Amino acid sequence: MRILFTGGSGKAGRVVVPWLQAQGHRVVNFDLKPLDLPGVDNLIGDITDSGHVFNALTSYANFDELEPGTGVPKFDAVVHFAAIPRILITTDDECFRVNTMGTYRVIEAAVKLGIRKVVFASSETTYGVCFADGERKPDYLPVDEEYDVVPHDSYAMSKVCNEATARSFQARSGIDIYGLRINNVIAPEQYRDDFPYWLDHPEVRRRNFFAYIDARDLGQMVDLCLKTDGLGYQIFNVANEDHSVRLKTSEIVAQFYQGVPMKREMGEDETLFSISKAKTLLGFKPKHSWRTEIK
Ligand SMILES: NC(=O)c1ccc[n+]([C@@H]2O[C@H](COP(=O)([O-])OP(=O)(O)OC[C@H]3O[C@@H](n4cnc5c(N)ncnc54)[C@H](O)[C@@H]3O)[C@@H](O)[C@H]2O)c1
Repeated sequence: MRILFTGGSGKAGRVVVPWLQAQGHRVVNFDLKPLDLPGVDNLIGDITDSGHVFNALTSYANFDELEPGTGVPKFDAVVHFAAIPRILITTDDECFRVNTMGTYRVIEAAVKLGIRKVVFASSETTYGVCFADGERKPDYLPVDEEYDVVPHDSYAMSKVCNEATARSFQARSGIDIYGLRINNVIAPEQYRDDFPYWLDHPEVRRRNFFAYIDARDLGQMVDLCLKTDGLGYQIFNVANEDHSVRLKTSEIVAQFYQGVPMKREMGEDETLFSISKAKTLLGFKPKHSWRTEIK
């Protein structure tokens, strides 16, 4: 597929983009800064500028696309990752503005240009635990996509708004728009740099439901979303299958989530950030785990 990928120069994108490229997709990165990766073309632009977005989506990717003489090829899909990726980078209102207006403009342009597939990055923070003021326990476990999301911070609010925007555009157009509630993204070097500390201090993972997502497995998830058509509007949790700490499920619940209702029985190493929907509808099967990555 010919894909416009927004935010490909970021932490997740620089792993997901080459992963998609390796599956045979042609990826054009649309970002404020370039990604230095052979075979990936960069269009520098701002997602909050509607002109930039429409222009990028109707642009040649590189000189080779001039050769056939048949005009600008169409994009088959948009993968939208560009964002202010958490609170405390910009002011709260700027984070909200960039994320909501950027997402509106990307999805609006995709729909109006007749592109039939949009995959966009939402976030685990929509569940309201990650950036809560003080400790906020989940309403129930495992956390799944049925959860009533009412976060308190500007970043997560922007992601909930984006899901509403996506749902409305999907309802009007009938195209496929899939939103990914991505858990804490782990770049391969973090198994060496961060996991040893986390394994000794499991409490630091409380705000992430003790879950994580390997950036390469996130690549698999995006590819599955690109390959699976006809699901309309969908939201998927994305995480690895196990906890990011050495504790068992029953130990995590006893130490950190006492009194939180359990929706079903869970495996002792099973993530509290349910990925059952992605497994059932897309065949998602994460391949990585800290248990095999840490030497
Ligand atoms: N990293 C995580 O743990 C995590 C977890 C859940 C969801 N997410 C979401 O996944 C996506 C990618 O996250 P990331 O960690 O790679 O973030 P990142 O900040 O590393 O990358 C985001 C990219 O978007 C670009 N960008 C920002 N504003 C832009 C604009 N106005 N126009 C064009 N490009 C712009 C940046 O230059 C950057 O390259 C984001 O939507 C983020 O909210 C990330």
